[in-house]
Amino acid sequence: MKQVDLLYTGKAKSVYRTDEPGIYIMKFRDDITAFDGEKKDTLSGKGRYNAEVSTFFFRYLEENGIRTHYIRSIEPGTIAVRGLEMIPLEVIVRNVAAGSIVRNYPFKEGEPLDPPVIVIDFKSDTHHDPMLNDDLIYALNLATPEELDQIKATALAINDILREYLDARGITLVDFKLEFGRYNGEILVGDEISMDSMRLWDKETGASLDKDVYRFNKGDVMETYAGVAKRILSPPGESV
Ligand code: CDP
Repeated sequence: MKQVDLLYTGKAKSVYRTDEPGIYIMKFRDDITAFDGEKKDTLSGKGRYNAEVSTFFFRYLEENGIRTHYIRSIEPGTIAVRGLEMIPLEVIVRNVAAGSIVRNYPFKEGEPLDPPVIVIDFKSDTHHDPMLNDDLIYALNLATPEELDQIKATALAINDILREYLDARGITLVDFKLEFGRYNGEILVGDEISMDSMRLWDKETGASLDKDVYRFNKGDVMETYAGVAKRILSPPGESV
């Protein structure tokens, strides 16, 4: 399979067409951004850790009956994926209040959200990702009611799977973001599932093990990403 032309370049990943129809190559770059792109840096090796963790979670989800765009790994930092017709929604599942939900609503940081809260934002740089509701999603023709029901049910199923997996490794899954796309009449999970798209707290210390370390200068980002990737890829109890 040969890489052909650049299809899309985002804040931290680039997607290329290949000579095989319907198969794309996704490269996790070392770029990291926060606050709607206002803070930006390049951290050597970051892309590899995010690709490694995303690959692991995509495979793990597939083993647990969730369909994703992942096909195979090509080299560190680069994976082959199914070409999806992306749905411009950022589907966030929250188990614990943190980040924007604390800024915008009267929740206390660290307050458990049981049942989990799904928040869906419009993925649009020009509009700065405003929050949507079901009626807006239908009015904007972003998804049908059937698709939205399926997206929400899949997001909650993924939350159960990831939460249990991470809990066994001493990590609280505070919240995470998913993106979905259409593929031959099905809805698949796309994008990435990594330290850039999840909020993870150490169960014992409460320390951030994710992009919040970068957002709020909480420590060495690469050391954090390397450490959490190791914990995620290890059997429970081995590298905690
Ligand atoms: O993190 P921030 O305060 O910007 O927004 P949030 O709504 O609290 O984010 C909830 C979760 O979704 C966090 O784990 C973010 O890292 C993730 N997220 C993301 O990956 N990409 C976005 N564009 C927005 C949120």
